[in-house]
Amino acid sequence: MSEIKEITALEILDSRGTPTIYCEVTLSSGIQGFSMVPSGASTGEHEALELRDKDPNRYFGKGVLKAVANINGPINELLKGQSVLDQRSIDEAMISLDGTKSKSKLGANSILGVSLAVARAAANFKKMPLFESISPDKNYLLPTPMMNILNGGAHADNSLDFQEFMIRPFNAPTFAEALRWGSEIFYSLRSLLKEKNHVVSVGDEGGFAPNLSSDEESLDFILKAIEKAGLRPKTDVSIALDCAASEFFDKESKTYIEKKKKLSGHSFLSRTAKEQVEHLQKLCKNYPIDSIEDGLDENDWEGWKSLTQSLGKEIQIVGDDIFVTNPEFLQKGIDSDIGNSILIKLNQIGTLTETLDTMALAKKSNYKCVVSHRSGETEDSFIADLSVATACGQIKTGSLSRSDRIAKYNRLLQIEHLLSDSSKENLFYHK
Ligand code: PGA
Ligand code: ZN
Repeated sequence: MSEIKEITALEILDSRGTPTIYCEVTLSSGIQGFSMVPSGASTGEHEALELRDKDPNRYFGKGVLKAVANINGPINELLKGQSVLDQRSIDEAMISLDGTKSKSKLGANSILGVSLAVARAAANFKKMPLFESISPDKNYLLPTPMMNILNGGAHADNSLDFQEFMIRPFNAPTFAEALRWGSEIFYSLRSLLKEKNHVVSVGDEGGFAPNLSSDEESLDFILKAIEKAGLRPKTDVSIALDCAASEFFDKESKTYIEKKKKLSGHSFLSRTAKEQVEHLQKLCKNYPIDSIEDGLDENDWEGWKSLTQSLGKEIQIVGDDIFVTNPEFLQKGIDSDIGNSILIKLNQIGTLTETLDTMALAKKSNYKCVVSHRSGETEDSFIADLSVATACGQIKTGSLSRSDRIAKYNRLLQIEHLLSDSSKENLFYHK
């Protein structure tokens, strides 16, 4: 009865109004599972391939009808009759049908859509919450949310080169309280920005996108917002950055440039890798920053090494574009002492099984995992369950606005409620 009867897919839209995939798996028992696939903007070069139609007459080439047809046709044929209780066999069957390293034949978006819908169908079949079905070991933790309250880089049409300025309310007693702290800081920031006549419209991940003049000015606003909300920077709430530095690395001069200033015709600074590391060190000295993601370009392994040497003992150094949730890249990073943490994005690798394998490798190697959304999201809250199931302790899923972000926070509230009578004393991960 857990066998797949049919898999169907549909072209839907993500939070940017760009096509993506809705996938539904129906079992012979009639039980179903669905998924919706996310999509990035500042993608890593080595991510698995997101198959798009490239038909200029539809959605500027971004349609996903070919990927949808791959699910309705060959993947449906391949998996019909297989039990959803064997996630690994299903994911491996799709990987070998595709036959390419980057999943470019069927598309990682098709494969992931099916992989996640299968996981949900399995949970529904077992009559279990998704997190419990993914990991029955009951060692659950609610993650510390990393909330991106100031957006820049490729996610906002403003002056900021760093993509994400996040708050981490790690000292909250529960996830629900952490969320309240985040919301109160977000609205405190809003009024501080308004006071200084800055725009308070939001970027792709729901954080404000004002035209501030420097990283320091952004961090000063966040510090004041934490205090205005009645909380203590460093003691209650720390700051995390995602520089997404590949976006402003100038390949020709091999320097990190103030790209937004350059694009708007203003004079701009450029920093060598060494200077970029020094800049980050200085920010960490002056502000309560305890996590930096993609501080350097994804191919600048030398720069990464020196960043890890200079800051890796004190703070979290997270690899996103450099590791792309891929065990091979992570292993290379581990062997070369690069970073101490990895960002986990399901669609960078393309199946749930490979994602869990990458997380297991990280854990074994004492690297921390941060489960993450993409800048293009949907109302699918799968990653909330994934973060609890793996007890990784941290989730990055945007700011305190936009339902595509809030859907994940709301799911975590439900899970915390669901687990509240469990015998475990504290379910909330602190730091
Ligand atoms: P992306 O941004 O989804 O556009 O890649 C998120 C991130 O860089 O962490
Ligand atoms: Zn990133």
